Amino acid sequence: MTTRSSDGPPPCGRPPGPPRFYGPTPDTGRDSLWDELRERHGPVAPVELEPGIRAWLLLGYHENLTVLQNPHLFSRDTRRWREVVEGRVDPSSARPALSWRPNVLYADGAEHTRLRAPVVSALSRVDMAATARDVRRIADDLIDTFIADGEADLIKDFADPLPVLVLNRLYGLPDGYGHMLGDLTGIIFGDDARRGEEAVIRIHQYFAGLVARKRRTPGNDLASWMLEHANGLSDHEVAHQAALMNSAGHQPTTHLIGNTMRTLLTDERIRAAHADARLTIRELLDHVMWTDTPFQVLPARFALQDVRIGGTEIRAGDALLIGFDPAHRDPAVQRGREDTGVVSGARAHLMFGAGPHACPSRELARLVAATGVTALHERLAGLRPAVDPERLRRVPSPFVRGLSALPVVFAPGEPRPRPPAAPDPYAADPSAADGSPGSGEEPPDRAEDLLGRLFTWWRSLRG
Ligand code: HEM
Repeated sequence: MTTRSSDGPPPCGRPPGPPRFYGPTPDTGRDSLWDELRERHGPVAPVELEPGIRAWLLLGYHENLTVLQNPHLFSRDTRRWREVVEGRVDPSSARPALSWRPNVLYADGAEHTRLRAPVVSALSRVDMAATARDVRRIADDLIDTFIADGEADLIKDFADPLPVLVLNRLYGLPDGYGHMLGDLTGIIFGDDARRGEEAVIRIHQYFAGLVARKRRTPGNDLASWMLEHANGLSDHEVAHQAALMNSAGHQPTTHLIGNTMRTLLTDERIRAAHADARLTIRELLDHVMWTDTPFQVLPARFALQDVRIGGTEIRAGDALLIGFDPAHRDPAVQRGREDTGVVSGARAHLMFGAGPHACPSRELARLVAATGVTALHERLAGLRPAVDPERLRRVPSPFVRGLSALPVVFAPGEPRPRPPAAPDPYAADPSAADGSPGSGEEPPDRAEDLLGRLFTWWRSLRG
């Protein structure tokens, strides 16, 4: 998007206002906007979030890092935003990115520490080797659903369902529940507002039901581990942290996979470097997180006092948007590697955040993305885009940077023969013993709890 097309012509010769972060996003994205804003304003630029609602967009790498690393100056709590304090924005109904929920992401100080410890502790107990096998099995199951067709949409058919199925498995539930959660999440991000509202309520039931079930019958899973943490979170609090893991982890992982596949399919130098092992999958992911960040902009931080940053006066209560993509394009930090074009020092990207809120799930996110990309690469022979790469469409969001669809073609292959029932790593957890992976069947003794009733409702919709 250019500033001119985003703002429209300035009325009656008035200077153009700040660019809009609402309304339709141009299909080509906003790449050129960052340079224009940097030229016009320096490392901190004003933008309009909603009609009449302004925020500062951080364009400079160092300005972004400074804000992320100084929680005593910049709060994560949306309720500190002047627009909320003065009643112009309702954080319970604002779009998700600017809302407030009782979870670790929106908490500051001691409350943040209290909520984060159970999340970090639960994630640290995940058996990464077993999870790697699970991710690969889920990825292969997804590929089996389309491999015979010789064509697929790698977003809808693969990158979108994979993260939610993996997380559902880490909650100790069979895949049927993951498909349900994926469906509901998709409805929330769809166009139908009425169905979206219902899906929000149903997702709430999924997490409330999950926690109730795990309180009754603990297992070896993320929800049970959060419940048993010494900080003594209530069921309600654990449900909110579990829901956050889904909302925080789903879309960025989807678009990390999608953007990595797009890079492999369209950038000959990168594909060749990866094919002949000059570029490992981990280096490739870091390169993509630098050059094609799954979040381009992240809301938000709120100034706790008047402060000067990047030469701009910020007032207490102002909102600041973290500009990942603009930061990575900051001329002060751009460097390229000659043979592959891979950005050197790419692990210094900001994609997992920095400071106290930095993502507690980096390793899991990398594992899911790396395993997913590798599975596609290994199983789909002759993989190539089905449309001219110029025609690939972006998600219409100022925050997410990813593709709405990635249609591909490949040589049709055979689904894998169903392996003999593999030992289930969750077999020790009675709550996971219902149904084989993918069957989605609910055993009679569980069908009457909240989660079971939700599952029955969802199955009835699917006929
Ligand atoms: C490629 C995938 C991912 C990316 C790029 C990513 C990125 C981020 C970023 C930038 C933050 C910091 C937000 C802020 O400072 O305001 C964050 C926080 C968080 N992420 Fe991730 N994330 C990913 C995957 C995941 C997954 C898979 C999970 C859970 C299983 C997860 C759970 C969380 C949680 C709970 C927080 C809040 C931490 C806090 O506020 O202390 N993320 N993530």
